[in-house]
Amino acid sequence: MSKITVIGAGNVGATCAQRLAEKQLAETVVLVDIAEGIPQGKALDMWETAPIEAYDTRLVGTNTYEATAGSDVIIMTAGLARKPGMSRDDLLKMNTEIVWSCISQAAPLSPDAVIIVVSNPLDAMTYVALKASGFPHQRVFGMAGILDTARYRSFIAEALNVSVKDVQAMVLGGHGDTMVPLPRYTTVGGIPLTELMSAEQIEAIVTRTRNGGAEIVNYLKTGSAYYAPSAAAVEMAESVVRNRRRILPCASWLTGEFGHQDVYMGVPTLIDKTGVAKVLEMDLSADERALFEASLVHCRKNVTEVMELLAARA
Ligand code: NAI
Ligand code: 2OP
Repeated sequence: MSKITVIGAGNVGATCAQRLAEKQLAETVVLVDIAEGIPQGKALDMWETAPIEAYDTRLVGTNTYEATAGSDVIIMTAGLARKPGMSRDDLLKMNTEIVWSCISQAAPLSPDAVIIVVSNPLDAMTYVALKASGFPHQRVFGMAGILDTARYRSFIAEALNVSVKDVQAMVLGGHGDTMVPLPRYTTVGGIPLTELMSAEQIEAIVTRTRNGGAEIVNYLKTGSAYYAPSAAAVEMAESVVRNRRRILPCASWLTGEFGHQDVYMGVPTLIDKTGVAKVLEMDLSADERALFEASLVHCRKNVTEVMELLAARA
């Protein structure tokens, strides 16, 4: 029986569960959260949607992990958002504890699962999931690049007044601020973006994309984006459960690719039923390489901080 577990029944997690059911990507979707009643209520509400949307996926809400046993995929979305008075370090510490606690309970019950991490700070939390699960790195990767790329593609389509379907792009690197856009590799209907837009127009879109998360928070005030983030995580899950072999920008563990290792970084990733089947490399110009290296320094700093936190609590 196919099963996908979503940990965290907040905005991203619940929307992931709904999308998974509507796409019928598993026979069962288990929604887990620490908040009593929330995963149960949301899962029941989604199950009661099934006759209208015509899906057979069963949804189960729970505060414990027994029902998650035997999952094919685990999508990790639980975590806190930064609150006033809380430093970035505080957030890193608290989310490290949350991700460690959730994954160390879920992983032993689903020893063959592929884990997709969404919780922020993304590269650091993906490392926590890697260590808490004890899984090989090919089965633990993170979602951020698809979201950044989707924002970039949607802004380009809007500016050119064309279908988003015809905008092909790949944003690499860390999430948000340190992302590495690649206009040279961006095409619209096969035409290089650089032939359709001025450098100034492209730069304005890149800046808006870098600030894409903050733009949504400024509107919502009490939370962050979840429609596009959940769609992105589900796109990764779909490539795993349907063995689609999609090539998508994901936070994958480097083992020498792009000249680096032992760090999670947003890179072109071939996703199949085993998780990360391969990290694809590409030529980068001097400017692109400089952005990539700067982003890598940032990702490595996050991962190093978490390594120290985990060593201290061991
Ligand atoms: P939310 O606040 O709506 O939901 C978080 C949920 O986690 C809550 O329901 C809470 O009860 C639950 N939770 C907290 N501790 C838990 C524990 N120990 N066990 C189980 N559940 C627990 O937040 P939202 O909007 O769903 O975002 C979730 C995370 O995803 C945040 O860290 C956010 O920053 C991140 N995010 C990452 C994105 C990316 O591109 N990687 C995009 C969007 C969000
Ligand atoms: C975003 O970029 C908060 O990481 C989240 O929307």
